[in-house]
Amino acid sequence: MLCLLDTANVEDIARCFDFYPVAGVTTNPTLIAREERPFHDILTDILKVIGERTMLHVQVLGPDAETMVAEANQLRDRLGPGIFPKLPVTQQGLKAIRILASAGFSVTATAILTPLQALLAARAGATFVAPYVNRIDNIGGDGEGVVLDIVKMISIHALPTKVLTASFKNVRQVHDMALAGAHAATMSPQLLDMIFSHPLTDSGVADFNADWAAAYGADTTTLDNDTE
Ligand code: E4P
Repeated sequence: MLCLLDTANVEDIARCFDFYPVAGVTTNPTLIAREERPFHDILTDILKVIGERTMLHVQVLGPDAETMVAEANQLRDRLGPGIFPKLPVTQQGLKAIRILASAGFSVTATAILTPLQALLAARAGATFVAPYVNRIDNIGGDGEGVVLDIVKMISIHALPTKVLTASFKNVRQVHDMALAGAHAATMSPQLLDMIFSHPLTDSGVADFNADWAAAYGADTTTLDNDTE
């Protein structure tokens, strides 16, 4: 399962790309607005950190398919081949997905709440479908169950579409996605940090370091003990 970052914050992106095996970045209008600076500056700065060929998913806002297609074209022209236009699974969005997919775009269908929305978006040619796991759980639904059904439908109907799971609030939800066969999960930098943090890992490493320091000296490493 690929791991992506769901944020538009350049500092967080730089930090996470430095430490973690991150495959790309997803943004949405809310995350962009939170940065309080010009839209294209944010995207240009993100691309400087992740590189032009790394996936950057950017949501369009047009009220109709024609506008969404025009937005997608402009984004790709300005920002290059790593851009994945994100389109919501509304009627207009679905129409735009079909137009863009046949024009050779890699498109992400977003704001998916049901398996059949995902199936239709996959049929329309979406490269990724993005079910919102936590938002489904929040309304008493079964986010994991929806993802399991989508993964199954895509496999039964032999579609090339990949499942990019999104909207997470805890580590368990992400764990469940890996077991459900999701191809990717996008999450906040804070959630990604939580996945890697464990007090027993920290105390275990501290114990190893203390034992080493007692035997070979404080602030030394294996480099200081290369006697060959
Ligand atoms: C998906 O690509 C969206 O950006 C996102 O995951 C929605 O998450 P939220 O429910 O935390 O807003």
